[in-house]
Formats: sequence, C-alpha cells, structure tokens
Amino acid sequence: MSPKKVRIHHFKEMKQRGEKITMLTAYDFPTARAFDAAGVDILLVGDSMGDNVLGMDSTVPLSLDEMIPLTRAVSRGAERAFVVADLPFGAYEVSPEQAVESSIRMIKASGANAVKFEGGRRIARQVKAVTDAGIPFCGHLGFTPQSENALGGRRIQGRGEHGVEELVADALALQEAGAFAVVLEMVIAPAAKAVTEALDIPTIGIGAGKDTDGQVLVWLDMAGVGDWHPRFSKQFGAVGEAMRGAAAAYVDEVRAVSFPGPEHTFED
Ligand code: KIV
Repeated sequence: MSPKKVRIHHFKEMKQRGEKITMLTAYDFPTARAFDAAGVDILLVGDSMGDNVLGMDSTVPLSLDEMIPLTRAVSRGAERAFVVADLPFGAYEVSPEQAVESSIRMIKASGANAVKFEGGRRIARQVKAVTDAGIPFCGHLGFTPQSENALGGRRIQGRGEHGVEELVADALALQEAGAFAVVLEMVIAPAAKAVTEALDIPTIGIGAGKDTDGQVLVWLDMAGVGDWHPRFSKQFGAVGEAMRGAAAAYVDEVRAVSFPGPEHTFED
C-alpha cells in the first residue's frame, strides 16, 4: 500500500492485510525528507534524540522545549510519512491533565501527527485523556529507556513466569485507552508474537523479532553513523564512514589549495 499521505486508519488496515509497517527515527529536516522519499511510513522523533543527537548520557534529561524545534523540522520534511513525537520523561507521568497539556503543546507547536510515551497499565489514564482530547497515541512497552533505572538497566523484557501475561495485559490496556499502535522494545520474540496476536492494533518492534506488525530502528544505528551496534539492529549503510571521508577530502583539498577551483570561483 502506498497512500499519498499516511494517515492513522492505514495502520490497522496494514495489520489486517499482513503488510509490514516501517518506522525510523528522524531528528531533522534533511533526514526526514530522505526517509519520506524512501517510503518510510512513520517518522519517529524519539527521545533517543537526547543520547543520539544532543550528546546526553540518556534520554532522561531531555525536555519538551528541546524536542519541539527538532520535531517541527521533521514535520516540515514529511510529505507522506506520519510523524510521531515522543513526550520526554517528566512530561506526562504526574497526571492525565499534565499528559494532555504536554501533548497539546507538542502537537500545536511541532505539527506532529501523534504522540508516544512509555508504559502500560500505569499510564492508561493518561493515554485515555490524550486520545479523548483527539490526539493519536502510540504506546511503548518492553524495555522503556526512561525507566532504565527502575528496570535495572538495559534488560530484555517478557522473560520469567508472568512476563508474557504482563506484557499482554499492558498492551490491552493501551489499546482499550485508544492507542493506535504499540512499540515493543527489546522483548523476547515469543512474547512479542503473543502481544501482536492479542491486539487489533499493530505492534512495531525493535529487538522484538519478526512477528510484530512493523519494525522501527534508530536511524543512526541503521545507517552506520554511530559506534554503538546493538545486536537487534542491522547496519544498512556506512553513512558515518562516508561523512568522515567527505570531511577528510575537504580538509585535504583546502590545505592543498585545490579547492575552490575555477568552477567554484566568481572572477567578476
Ligand atoms: O526514542 C526512540 O528512538 C524510541 C525507539 C527506540 C522506538 O522510542
């Protein structure tokens, strides 16, 4: 399916047809334009911007004020893709009112189509309030980086006696509260499959195996920009190497005075 503009109803239809949903993170205008042109269905302005783009130690210190201008740039670059913006840690946990206020602020100021934040049953009231306010919501379960401290580090989720049951209960609570999709991060494949089968709305996996309704990756990992290579990601390009190569060639040519050449020069 290739609609001119991806809209919220397309995701359930894609699940029903068994068509995989593609999602990548994006944090600026040129990247959003490139991924939009490549046919990516959803651009996620993830709070992974904190550690991947702004040089923070984790996603935790990131604020709504920092996220909004970059989200606005992504929205400007998205002609076809649906844009989902994360709410950062601290912007929704306190109450349904806080979640609605932050979501409205994000949507109005950034032009994103939907918001995403982390958690299951514990934030279901917030999700209901946000979707009742007319804002599309995407859930995020499994490993939830904003709660890394509470989860005891980057641990695979869905394991243990009640692991699958707990995940399914959380996912159903999000669906009931009006979510249009749920991201499953670092979840054992059988648990991700069970959640996917239990839901009418699509699941989008990252480190959750192949049975989810779609896949998402952090674009810098996918394109080989950074030096972190998580096992669940795959490097589909060598963009970091290409950038270093281009910058080194530029430095060499400027030093050798071979750039700029006559073709780059205005003589009169
Ligand atoms: O912030 C992010 O990039 C995410 C993805 C890992 C799903 O939430």
